[in-house]
Amino acid sequence: MAEPERYPVSDEWKKRARVDAGGYETLYGRSIADPGSFWLEQARRLDWIKRPEIAGDWSFDEADFHIEWFADGKLNVAANCIDRHLATRGDTTAIIWEPDDPKDSVRTYTYRELHREVCRFANVLKGQGVQKGDRVTIYMPMIPEAAFALLACARIGAIHSVVFGGFSPDALAGRIVDCDSAYVITADAGRRAGKMVPLKTNVDKAADQAPVLKKVIVVQATGADVTMKDGRDVWYHEAAQGVGEDCPAEAMDAEDPLFILYTSGSTGKPKGVLHTSGGYLLWTSLTHELAFDYREGDVYWCAADIGWITGHSYIVYGPLANGATVVMYEGVPNWPDSSRIWQVVDKHQVNILYTAPTALRALMADGDEPVKKTSRASLRVLGTVGEPINPEAWRWYYNVVGDGRCPIIDTWWQTETGGHMIAPLPGAHDLKPGSATRPMPGVDPQILDADGNVLTGAAQGNLVIAKSWPGQMRTVWNDHERFFQTYFSTYPGKYFTSDGARRDADGDYWITGRVDDVINVSGHRMGTAEVESALVLHESVAEAAVVGRPHEVKGQGIYAYVTLNSGVEASDDLRRTLVQWVRDEIGPIATPEAIQFAPSLPKTRSGKIMRRILRKIAEGDTSSLGDTSTLADPDVVDHLIENGVA
Ligand code: WTA
Repeated sequence: MAEPERYPVSDEWKKRARVDAGGYETLYGRSIADPGSFWLEQARRLDWIKRPEIAGDWSFDEADFHIEWFADGKLNVAANCIDRHLATRGDTTAIIWEPDDPKDSVRTYTYRELHREVCRFANVLKGQGVQKGDRVTIYMPMIPEAAFALLACARIGAIHSVVFGGFSPDALAGRIVDCDSAYVITADAGRRAGKMVPLKTNVDKAADQAPVLKKVIVVQATGADVTMKDGRDVWYHEAAQGVGEDCPAEAMDAEDPLFILYTSGSTGKPKGVLHTSGGYLLWTSLTHELAFDYREGDVYWCAADIGWITGHSYIVYGPLANGATVVMYEGVPNWPDSSRIWQVVDKHQVNILYTAPTALRALMADGDEPVKKTSRASLRVLGTVGEPINPEAWRWYYNVVGDGRCPIIDTWWQTETGGHMIAPLPGAHDLKPGSATRPMPGVDPQILDADGNVLTGAAQGNLVIAKSWPGQMRTVWNDHERFFQTYFSTYPGKYFTSDGARRDADGDYWITGRVDDVINVSGHRMGTAEVESALVLHESVAEAAVVGRPHEVKGQGIYAYVTLNSGVEASDDLRRTLVQWVRDEIGPIATPEAIQFAPSLPKTRSGKIMRRILRKIAEGDTSSLGDTSTLADPDVVDHLIENGVA
């Protein structure tokens, strides 16, 4: 293999780095050799009500399966993100909120103001009956109140479950019911790219399918006209009148749940990933500081949505635990025009920017001019997350956006891992476009072959993590057995990531993408089974099989094979209907790029759909279909090839 392109750590970065190459080796070495003392020392970065004396206590083996971190410690996550900064940073800006429309006003909150807002929100929740351990669903636009809501739950020990505002009423209802959430926090509507998202109306529709729902707290964000149901719906601004501006922070065990976040897997409905308090906060705070070389006073912008894990860990918990000034953006990257991100960077003098490859590819398509007409001189570090970054987008980010000055921090991680797992540190690691480079302290990655043998040196295979780390998820809500089966049964004693990876001769990791039936659409996970279930709910559909295929901007697009019920006529109209149907069932992120009507699907004699073949046909690569001898009816394939959708 040719020597990969390499961008060595600059002299300036060698000098200024918090952690240089030698520093990383020491840090990482200690974390693996003596995790107990390493993590107890790291735990000092948090404010504990009772300081822990034990670090990790875990086993990935079936007989003794358990994962605990700092189990004898007590703390409150919101107090760590707010209260402990008040003495030294009370007047520092915590949140700069940039609205969707650049003509609207920016809102800012100091840490002291954040304290007041979160306490007030917490008191409103209490007033509505929310107690420690209750589940609270948050279905919000990207407004400061979304962050207040998360932190208010954390303050009183309620477990939040954020549902991305782009999900449909059906998807929302499923998540409310799964975790028995009697409370929903929403807004009248959200704004995105100049359009209104009818959040409250969606909640009304979801409520019909979620009898468990008792109270809906509605933030007035846009003034949109909504119906309020007596006894169920409460305006936040009305409930907040007269509540106290202080609310004591509940003392929580380190292992008490902090939140549930639903994510797609290869089978079944989305799983409620559960994160707990102490280990998660430590992990997000440490990785935020290391990966971005975060310094006191930096203006930091993570352009994700709070509905995804990136928003939880790197808009709210990690940066606020570190006392950072966080930019929160309501809108999308390319509205009103494709210069918007760079204008926001200049407007707020952003030092650290964290975004996704799909956004970069979309902006790249509009050329360099929208970037070049802005200064961007404040930028120091550029991060990326969500999917493998193609070298072309990496170089554009580095050369055009960063003017060749800013290291690109390609962070590989998952909803399940809580925070960054493999990522370069700006002052420590030479960069290679497309490589996430090295593991974070405490992360022990291994590459295995299909039989579970550990491969050493340069190798390619399935990526597992051999040891627990503090930010690891603790269970699937209500289904501990599924947690074990999904992540620890494939390779006994190890956490299986479902990603493939390659390690090069230097020891750097390159993530190659999912090895299961999860499609990565614009950095968002979509289970093929979920889209298939949505399709077969339609009265015309007998069977569906969904695969991913490469997409220039989205990374992967959804390609659906649909077998219609007998007597139903295939037509372009029906195709459009089915696309809309899936959007209504799940949400716009599940929009199929292509639907191919297929009289029958390629199956093995035991009835298993051969997705490998369907993927090849969707990609238009029919020269190497591999072994088709196990197919029940080989003619099916010819028909599919002839009718493939370009
Ligand atoms: C993919 C997002 C390559 C990967 C934080 C993983 C990546 C899935 C990267 C998790 C990256 C995320 N390079 N692939 N830097 N970051 N992925 O749970 O396939 O939404 O398993 O978490 O995204 O997606 P999730």
